[in-house]
Amino acid sequence: MIKGKFPVEEFKQLDTPFYYYDIALLRSTLETIKRETEGKPFHVHYAVKANANPRILKEIASYGFGADCVSGNEIRAALEAGFSPDKIVFAGVGKSDKEIQIGLDNDICCFNVESIPELEVLNILAAAKSKITKVALRINPNIDAHTHKYITTGLNENKFGINEQDLPRILGIIKASQNLQFTGIHFHIGSQITDLKSFEDLCVKAKELEEWFNGQGIKLSVINVGGGLGINYQHPNHIPMADFESYFRLFEKNLPLQENQQLHFELGRAVVAPCGSLISRVLYVKEGIQKNFLIVDAGMTDLIRPALYQAFHHIENISSDKDPTPYDVVGPICESSDVFAEQILLNESTRGDLIAIRSAGAYGEVMASQYNCRNLPLSYFSDQL
Ligand code: LLP
Repeated sequence: MIKGKFPVEEFKQLDTPFYYYDIALLRSTLETIKRETEGKPFHVHYAVKANANPRILKEIASYGFGADCVSGNEIRAALEAGFSPDKIVFAGVGKSDKEIQIGLDNDICCFNVESIPELEVLNILAAAKSKITKVALRINPNIDAHTHKYITTGLNENKFGINEQDLPRILGIIKASQNLQFTGIHFHIGSQITDLKSFEDLCVKAKELEEWFNGQGIKLSVINVGGGLGINYQHPNHIPMADFESYFRLFEKNLPLQENQQLHFELGRAVVAPCGSLISRVLYVKEGIQKNFLIVDAGMTDLIRPALYQAFHHIENISSDKDPTPYDVVGPICESSDVFAEQILLNESTRGDLIAIRSAGAYGEVMASQYNCRNLPLSYFSDQL
């Protein structure tokens, strides 16, 4: 079995659990995205929610990408990491007044607005600061992203976005609002999308809506197709990067742009998931009646994805060369769902062995909690060990 290139001897000196980030892989991912979008009217805003570790944010900002934020504190984190305010977009169904003010005070690029009351509040708050702010409308395209129900967002019954039938009324409100400048439309259909056909459907929908806007005498300067590009969780060693080439080519082919029109992307997972691993120690090997449990010191407080979405993460024992043996890999948290994997083959393991839970760079560290009064996981970077 091919193993990731982990500095196991260095790891042995460290307290576990911790996140380990492969900076070389992150950089080659960022270079690939840059190469695939350069020279095109494509703008990538990294979805900060996927991983807001300051070092990771700095790396991403240094490539000139923008940031897609969903809270006032994400805007602050993005600014601190060096993202330019005019490349920061602010989305989310429930922006508080304080958070809107952070966006206004920093003259961010655009608010992605998700409801009529939000639009009205934004106009009032912008007026109070004598500012004119750019808005895009997040529209619910009613497209099935064929992904887990907790991470599909573009269907009609989701809480996100504006329904199409409200558009005429919303345009009326925007026209009457002195402090809002309409720039375009925004979508996000879901996450971990591996069937690119869903994005083709989205392009068709975007074109349809564009025609409708044009019919109203309105030109869209921005079309924002959100994020959602999935990665291969099964084979992190063989397929360490999402297929950015096919992804961007799909939009180039299916969504021809007008003059001076920009296409915005909000990729999160595909940028950071592959570069992160959660490193944990085996505490106990417990013999069950029909199976063996590997009880490790990382739990759902460090990586909640398997417990919350039944998500699969490839797991390796990186300190044993013994023959593969089946185990249930479980954490120490007092919840039956604190299970990382059931009946997987790992090199025969003993107390003290190190395991790597792979592809955990997105929605891993950033979703950690202190349930059971646990410490938050630390993070280490490949160029520092
Ligand atoms: N834009 C918007 C408006 C979003 O809601 C999201 C993710 C993104 C962009 C970035 O999507 P990505 O490229 O990362 O798929 N915690 C879940 C994923 C939740 C995604 C929420 N929205 C997980 O661990 O799978």
